[in-house]
Amino acid sequence: MKIAIIGGTGHIGSYLTPLLVEAGHEVTCISRNQRKPYREHAAWGVVTYLTLDRVAEEQSGTFGERIARLEAEALIDLTCFYPQSAEHLANALRGRVGHLLHCGTIWVHGPSAVVPTTEEQPRQPFGDYGIRKAAIERWLLAQWKETGLPVTILHPGHLVGPGWAPINPQGNFNPEVFAALRRGMEVRIPHFGMETVHHVHAEDVAQAFLLALKHRNIALGESFHVVSAAAITLRGYAEQMAAWFQQPARLRFVPWDEWKLGVSARDAAVTEDHIRHSPHCSIQKARSLLGYESRYTSLQAVQESVGWLMKNGIIS
Ligand SMILES: NC(=O)c1ccc[n+]([C@@H]2O[C@H](COP(=O)([O-])OP(=O)(O)OC[C@H]3O[C@@H](n4cnc5c(N)ncnc54)[C@H](OP(=O)(O)O)[C@@H]3O)[C@@H](O)[C@H]2O)c1
Repeated sequence: MKIAIIGGTGHIGSYLTPLLVEAGHEVTCISRNQRKPYREHAAWGVVTYLTLDRVAEEQSGTFGERIARLEAEALIDLTCFYPQSAEHLANALRGRVGHLLHCGTIWVHGPSAVVPTTEEQPRQPFGDYGIRKAAIERWLLAQWKETGLPVTILHPGHLVGPGWAPINPQGNFNPEVFAALRRGMEVRIPHFGMETVHHVHAEDVAQAFLLALKHRNIALGESFHVVSAAAITLRGYAEQMAAWFQQPARLRFVPWDEWKLGVSARDAAVTEDHIRHSPHCSIQKARSLLGYESRYTSLQAVQESVGWLMKNGIIS
């Protein structure tokens, strides 16, 4: 197939673009060409590149038409963050693409209620990002129902892979938390450490996109969570990482108002966002309809990423 991928060099794209090439597809990768992919792969030599700035092209009203002119049979959109962006693109592609695959997020859900959260649960997002992504999902699925727009939505969890820092056992991105666990130092965990995070290896997300393309007819008009098979509590996460470093887990559980004063404002905000969500999503729908199975547990994914951070001197 002729496939175009918007944002094909980022966390997900670094796995998905090569996977599409390996599967025999003819791939056009759209980006501003400002960054290199996270992994080297022979596929980068055979991909066609289209360099453009989506934001600027949307402002001038030309983005959708430039994408439609590629005449791709399938379009994977990894960089859509605003309802107006989704509408602009979908309106240009209407009748001109066989499958539009949109990348959402598990943040379309608000705080976890009945877990594991299924795709069917009513959306109660909070925070700008989740609210906008939920609005995009709602609009795209309505377009499928009302106009037959051939759309599928995949909602990844916290992306993990070698090359960047994963969400840590405090629920933020500070790699020093892993460094402290590695040295057997005390790590402060908010509350009782029973809130959850739900990672996914970027390779598993890539695999899910490929499955959605393969099972197009089943996937049309559907949303799927794409996460590891099980979420982890902050406490369990910290304990298992300490064990991996062959250190005792020296954890101190601290009430939130006290905990947040001991970290930077940025780390506190990221942790608060993650523990207020405490995601714990089901992959049963992706498993039964698409045949998705995560190859990495959350810990396996994180350990691969932390191994890379250590090798590159980011975790001392
Ligand atoms: N990160 C997470 O943990 C997470 C979790 C759940 C869902 N998601 C979703 O996953 C999707 C992809 O995220 P990601 O983390 O893989 O993205 P990413 O690593 O930030 O990569 C973004 C990609 O888009 C390109 N890009 C950025 N701005 C652009 C612009 N203005 N015009 C054209 N291309 C542009 C980048 O290349 P250039 O910079 O070279 O342009 C790159 O290829 C998003 O929809 C996000 O909501 C992410």
